[in-house]
Amino acid sequence: MSAPQFKKPVRKAVFPVAGLGTRFLPATKAIPKELLPVVDRPLIQYAVDEAREAGIEEFVFVTGRGKTAIVEHFDTAYELEATMTARGKSLDPLEPTRIQPGNLVTVRQQVPLGLGHAVWCARAVIGDEPFAIFLPDELMYGSPGCMAQMVEAYNEVGGNLVSVLEVPMEEVSSYGVIAPGECRGALTEVKGLVEKPKVAEAPSNKIVSGRYILQPEVMDLLANQGKGAGGEIQLTDSMAKLIGVQPFHAVTFQGQRFDCGSKVGFVEATLAIALDRADMGEDVRKIASRLLG
Ligand code: G1P
Repeated sequence: MSAPQFKKPVRKAVFPVAGLGTRFLPATKAIPKELLPVVDRPLIQYAVDEAREAGIEEFVFVTGRGKTAIVEHFDTAYELEATMTARGKSLDPLEPTRIQPGNLVTVRQQVPLGLGHAVWCARAVIGDEPFAIFLPDELMYGSPGCMAQMVEAYNEVGGNLVSVLEVPMEEVSSYGVIAPGECRGALTEVKGLVEKPKVAEAPSNKIVSGRYILQPEVMDLLANQGKGAGGEIQLTDSMAKLIGVQPFHAVTFQGQRFDCGSKVGFVEATLAIALDRADMGEDVRKIASRLLG
């Protein structure tokens, strides 16, 4: 099943960013959640950096009303750059926000019908190529990054891959969960997939953690995908139909994962990354120790 047609290079990535971010109100009333900063980079920047490191060239943002500031972030800011240059200031901090002309594409998800629907909205840009998906709420922190680890596995096994991690059993109902087959190092065969199962019905405690490499055939499945868990069109349900038809594996990320979809996870990410930064880690450590008494 690892025929060469399932091993084309992964050049494109989809970033579903149409969500309303209601959990972070009032912060997200006028600012997209994806632009909230973790230290000095917006959340979305971490996902884009991770994608770039993994060789992604084309960035497809699935946006919605009120989310255009995300696109602005990755555009050239002429006035800002001209003023900074005139004042002799370095433009280095803007470097990560640069995407090659023509390589940033946005599509709109006009109605919030679920993650599967959001991904399907990108079908015309994806065409017949394999593609990656990044859910920016999941901040994957490590070197090499999560997607780079997945691409390495993809070069070996091809087909479809999801990143997974283990959570306490009582938390599985918030996630997509895999039924694991054979394990080899960080690679696990995927035998089944279920979205937000009841604890008693979950096939394992290995949850899908927001990174995917999928073959383009998933788009046709999504086109006909009915509503699933929570009344939404679920990516998980269409992915499940690929199992047994194309290779399907999970990669356990060697690194740290922060759930920036929750406020506590967001604070955790901010603290952990600040502590890890060469330019401020020591100062933050002192402050944290003092605060903790
Ligand atoms: C989505 C996916 C789920 C995955 C999760 C990771 O769920 O549907 O399979 O485990 O992201 O964060 P959501 O968080 O949108 O409910």
